[in-house]
Amino acid sequence: MTTGLEPDLRPSYLEHRAMRIDAGRLTALVSAAQPDDADRLSALGSWYAGYEGAIHDHHTAEEAVIYPALLERDPSFAEADAELEGEHRVLADRLEVARQSLERLPSAAGGGRWERERDEDVRATQALEAILATHLPHEEEVAFSRYRQAFTSDEFADLGKAAWKVVGTRAIVFAGPWVLDHATEQERAETLAAQPWLVRVVYRLALRPRYERLARPLRSTPPLRARRTEA
Ligand SMILES: [Fe+2]
Ligand SMILES: [Fe+2]
Repeated sequence: MTTGLEPDLRPSYLEHRAMRIDAGRLTALVSAAQPDDADRLSALGSWYAGYEGAIHDHHTAEEAVIYPALLERDPSFAEADAELEGEHRVLADRLEVARQSLERLPSAAGGGRWERERDEDVRATQALEAILATHLPHEEEVAFSRYRQAFTSDEFADLGKAAWKVVGTRAIVFAGPWVLDHATEQERAETLAAQPWLVRVVYRLALRPRYERLARPLRSTPPLRARRTEA
């Protein structure tokens, strides 16, 4: 339980949740895709670029700021650090493979390659889900537990600010509304309440509407069974 002196790890858990849920959504979307979904799959590319970029930024913040700070306080983290960074490499590779596969799929619509390309795409997004299912609980077990021991709430907040400086403002443009998209109503209200007034206004008037436009192709997936019945 957070006491106020312990680091607030809720945003970190929330970001992990967003990664995991959306990888599952991608698999569902691609599994159900039909050739007449080609335009929607093409439109998904802009959202996917944000998703891949947000995960890349998350890794950069961990590897450039959070992990080194933890290692300094707790040298016993060294072995886990190497394992986690190795998982980041695998995750980055699978994100790239899934992106390339998604980019190819629309061009296969109406041709003999459709089923083969779609199956390949499903395997790519499932591989992404698999590494997330390995990495995220691993990190929560071996790193998040140490954050609680090694840092105070203020120290961890300062690390967060240092990480923002490394990844830049592009991180908040996509990642802010993306993460909040996966928050419960209460989590969203608490997260927004902790932000400066201007950030809340920018979120409501610009960032969230922009994210909604980007995420539209991801949201309009009918249930797989319904699509299969129609086909
Ligand atoms: Fe993480
Ligand atoms: Fe990580």
